Amino acid sequence: ATNRTFTMIKPDAFEAGNSGAILKMIEEAGFKIVAMKATKLTAELAGKFYEVHKERPFYNDLCAYMSSGPIFAAILEKDNAVEDFRKLIGATNPADAAEGTIRKIFAKSIEANAVHGSDSDDNAAIEGNFFFNQAERVL
Ligand code: CMP
Repeated sequence: ATNRTFTMIKPDAFEAGNSGAILKMIEEAGFKIVAMKATKLTAELAGKFYEVHKERPFYNDLCAYMSSGPIFAAILEKDNAVEDFRKLIGATNPADAAEGTIRKIFAKSIEANAVHGSDSDDNAAIEGNFFFNQAERVL
């Protein structure tokens, strides 16, 4: 079934001017962008977004990093969206990411790893709703 995932183009990729190239790869892989905005998180909002990681040692750095500059947030639609998008972006650590994946090409480190992708359908819905109300996306 056609379904949706949520992505962010993170501050490293935004700052480097790689957003257009990344969005081109996303569209060429068959994803439709059904909501998108440029925004900048506060540390508090980043903390809420990544609350599932709050016991992890990298949580404070991650929240500081994700609020360090502008990002793009987007909802993407495609058959098998969550799994196919995770394949397109590659492993969390760019050192482990497959050739041709977005993180292999654009990520600078495990933290500054260019893009976020939801890890489940439930989280895709939660994360999309965090950034977009009904008037801000294709229904
Ligand atoms: P993301 O898919 O956005 O979800 C959580 C983020 O934490 C992850 O991408 C990484 O950018 C970041 N992170 C930083 N350090 C680590 C780590 N050691 N293990 C996993 N994720 C990490």
